[in-house]
Amino acid sequence: MGATVSWPSFAFMHVVVLLLCLGSGFPYVACSFLGGNETDRLALLAFKAEITTDIFGALNTWNESIPFCQWLGVTELRLHNNSLSQPIPPEIGRLQRLQGLYLGNNSFSGEIPPNISACTNLVSLELFGNRLVGKISVELGSLFKLEVLHIAENELTGGIPSVFANLSSLIHLNMAANRIGGNIPFALGQLTNLEVLILGENRLVGTIPLSIFNLSSISRFNVITNQIRGSLPSELGNTLPNLQFLEVGMNLLSGPIPVSISNATKLLHIGLVSNRFSGKVPPFEKLHDLRRLILAQNRLGIGEADDLSFLTSLTNTTNMTNLNLGENNFGGMLTDTISNLSTNLRRLNLRRNKIVGSIPTGIGNLVNLQALGLSGNHFTSNIPADLRKLEKLQILSLSSNNLYGEIPLMFGNLTLLTVLSISQNRFHGSIPSSIGKCKMLEELGLDRNNLTGTIPREVMSLSSLLYINISQNNLTGSLPVEVGNLRNVEELDVSENMLVGNVPSDLGSCVKLRLLYMEGNKFWGILPSTLSNLRGIEELDLSQNNFSGQIPGYLPDFVFLRKLNLSFNDFEGVVPKGGIFGNATAVFISGNKKLCGGIADLQLKSCNLSKGLKKGRFTLTLKLIISVGFGLLGLTLVLCFLYLWWSRKTTKVSSFKILGNSFMKLSYQSLHKATDSFSPANLIGMGSFGSVYKGFIDQGKKVVAVKVLNLNFRGAAKSFIAECKALKSIKHRNLVKVLTACSSIDFQGNDFKALVYEFMVNGSLEEWLHQNGNEDDGHNESRNLSLLQRLNIAIDVASALDYLHHHCLKPIVHCDLKPSNVLLDDEMVGHVGDFGLARFLPEEHWQSNSIGIRGSVGYAAPEYGMGNEVSTFGDVYSYGILILEIFIGKRPTDITFNDSVTLHNFAKIALPEQGASIADPTLFQQSENGEVSSGINNTTNHNSIEGQRIEECLISILKLGITCSEELMRDRPAMNEVVAQLNVIKNALLGDITAL
Ligand SMILES: *[C@@H]1O[C@H](CO)[C@@H](O)[C@H](O)[C@H]1NC(C)=O
Ligand SMILES: *[C@@H]1O[C@H](CO)[C@@H](O)[C@H](O)[C@H]1NC(C)=O
Repeated sequence: MGATVSWPSFAFMHVVVLLLCLGSGFPYVACSFLGGNETDRLALLAFKAEITTDIFGALNTWNESIPFCQWLGVTELRLHNNSLSQPIPPEIGRLQRLQGLYLGNNSFSGEIPPNISACTNLVSLELFGNRLVGKISVELGSLFKLEVLHIAENELTGGIPSVFANLSSLIHLNMAANRIGGNIPFALGQLTNLEVLILGENRLVGTIPLSIFNLSSISRFNVITNQIRGSLPSELGNTLPNLQFLEVGMNLLSGPIPVSISNATKLLHIGLVSNRFSGKVPPFEKLHDLRRLILAQNRLGIGEADDLSFLTSLTNTTNMTNLNLGENNFGGMLTDTISNLSTNLRRLNLRRNKIVGSIPTGIGNLVNLQALGLSGNHFTSNIPADLRKLEKLQILSLSSNNLYGEIPLMFGNLTLLTVLSISQNRFHGSIPSSIGKCKMLEELGLDRNNLTGTIPREVMSLSSLLYINISQNNLTGSLPVEVGNLRNVEELDVSENMLVGNVPSDLGSCVKLRLLYMEGNKFWGILPSTLSNLRGIEELDLSQNNFSGQIPGYLPDFVFLRKLNLSFNDFEGVVPKGGIFGNATAVFISGNKKLCGGIADLQLKSCNLSKGLKKGRFTLTLKLIISVGFGLLGLTLVLCFLYLWWSRKTTKVSSFKILGNSFMKLSYQSLHKATDSFSPANLIGMGSFGSVYKGFIDQGKKVVAVKVLNLNFRGAAKSFIAECKALKSIKHRNLVKVLTACSSIDFQGNDFKALVYEFMVNGSLEEWLHQNGNEDDGHNESRNLSLLQRLNIAIDVASALDYLHHHCLKPIVHCDLKPSNVLLDDEMVGHVGDFGLARFLPEEHWQSNSIGIRGSVGYAAPEYGMGNEVSTFGDVYSYGILILEIFIGKRPTDITFNDSVTLHNFAKIALPEQGASIADPTLFQQSENGEVSSGINNTTNHNSIEGQRIEECLISILKLGITCSEELMRDRPAMNEVVAQLNVIKNALLGDITAL
């Protein structure tokens, strides 16, 4: 057979699976019942001719010697969930007995072949999730038997053909997520059997034709995210009695919500978010099944007292989980009616309305609430004591109201809180130390109140905090030394209080700080040298305090600093010129009378040189030289000479220059000492490029990882330079932080190159996933990663790659992503390390003859093997393999895999039916109390709900792994899309709590 087109081989493993799945009964019987027809036989042979490899002999039955009606797929062709990427073969049109054609979730390209219309027996046509383009052929209108037409998620253009009105059997029409424009044709109103009509995420304009609202069989109507105008007809609830899902969010719809809506008693979901609906909200009396009422971001309510009276009508909707009225015009009071709402309510959002009066006590009855948003209203009251009953609360936002009284102690009981914001109110009294019991707290906003007293140590000890704002209060006392425990804090704002004392040197432990605001207090003294650790800082405001001493020498080295305010203090001496001090618009230093020098733009008096020397940093150096004496100077000279002599023989590239001057410098000697003479006891890893040792620097106080490059290995020197280059310009919380590089000579006079990193206490992901067979160390049990931990690590790694690919000056390709290069810190946060193969884009092509330069076997993208140039999509491939490995627990190099059955194919075949069954069995090991180790905080009577969520999560993530590791580069998503998807998956797993 003159076979030309290459259908990826795994498509046919599907055929095999299908053959097995369908068993030997049904298709054969159906076929023989229908009788043979030469036309069909030729069509199938033509179809087969498109196939080059038949790895399992799956199609052996498709030959001349066996009656063709025993061939597969005569009445049904199921090729969904593959990577088939060519146009749909026109031979399809010859399979005239075909009743079901399932090609969803492939990469079929080109147009929908018009001659599909010859398959007049088609009942189901599923082409969703491909790359189909062009207009929808009007010929499809002749498929009179069609009941299901699912062409969502393609790139189809043009309009909805009016001839679809002829598809009189149609029950399910889904065209979502294409680029379909124009109006919704009036003629669709003739589809009287239609139950599901999904047109969302297109470019539809105009109004919804009234004829649609007369399709009484409709249960799901979805037109979200289009540009549809007009209003909903007043009779909607009477004409659509079967409606369950009304999804019209994100359009330009206006007018009132029809009063008749309460007659559509089967409604489960009303989604009107982000339109221009206005007027009073009608009662929903008879909607007993309603689960979600999403009215946010409209113009609903008329700002009057009884705006929220419709809430009374919801007291019988006992399954309600989500009520979102945020960002409207609702006025009046929130009455105690709220206490009669369903206790199933998980999320209640009323923020940014005009609600007055007090927060009703009865809100405490909604015991399953996970998120409560009342911010941006005119509430005037205390925080009701009953709020303490909301033990499942994770997000509580009461900011921007007129709330008063003391901050209640009960927040200490709400231990699941991740967000607590009461800022911009009139609270007084002190900050209760009990907040320190909220060990999950990530965001704490207490700013802009009248709080007094000192900052409780307990609150400053919450290492979970990412954001803390206590500014604009009347707080006194000093900044507690416990501030050093805020190891994850990225933003700390204590400005405009009455705080005093020195800045604790422990603040230097908050190495993730990006924004630090301390202005407008009474802090004094010299800034501690430990602040030199805050290398990630972006904004630093110390203005309007009484700080004194020199401007610290490390500030010019803070490469991410974009705003520095030191004004109105008592700093003295020379203003540096380097780093941020070179930019007069980013540095504020006025009001410090004793400062001099700096760049001309700062307009300071020049420093008298001799005075400057005495006062300046040079003093130290001078003293040192004088006191130690000239002997040492001589020795230094000799060492320098020796160094120069040796370094002439070695590479001319200085690592320090490459790394820039923001890194500390360590000598060979100090590394030798730090690693106890590179003793085997300190060896923690070995790879082709070198060995990694654990070391102790700073008098043994700081643990580091020292990678010594094996310079005998070809490419090692290049790899060193690559890594230095890459690390110089990047910084992200999910990348392993490099502390310094050392390019030197060892005691034998050999070239010595090493990189010094932050030490990652929990080792590599590789060790956690596969435990290296160290069964005897007794730690196996604790080494099982929970589902949530795995998901978090997957997100960490994706975030790092997204940063490298999309947020650096030039895109950086890591080129060697694998579990051994993902390191875990003390909190199991994933950090991507080892940039030995990293490439900047665009760059001259990497010589493809370099050994091992294409990454590691099993993780390297297939196109690298074919001499293609390095691209970010190569990393996406490795990432896909990595997440399959994380959740399936098998290496891509596992002995059960070979050239044709890869980890990718293995996962692909299993989904979705056996999704969870291929997952790593250790994920399902029961803990003592019988719970699956999902790592999710126990929220409700979970078993079935949580189990289902876990299963869904696993399936979604495996699907993502499969897409990322597609064979064809263009079928893989970009890392920013991956991160977005992962967050959706995580939210779904956690019960969608964070998207309030
Ligand atoms: C096979 O069926 C098609 C369509 O029903 C018909 O046009 C054709 O003549 C048949 N061929 C044979 C050989 O029976
Ligand atoms: C709701 O249905 C009832 C009975 O069919 C009808 O009498 C009533 O007028 C309807 N309500 C509205 C607002 O259309």
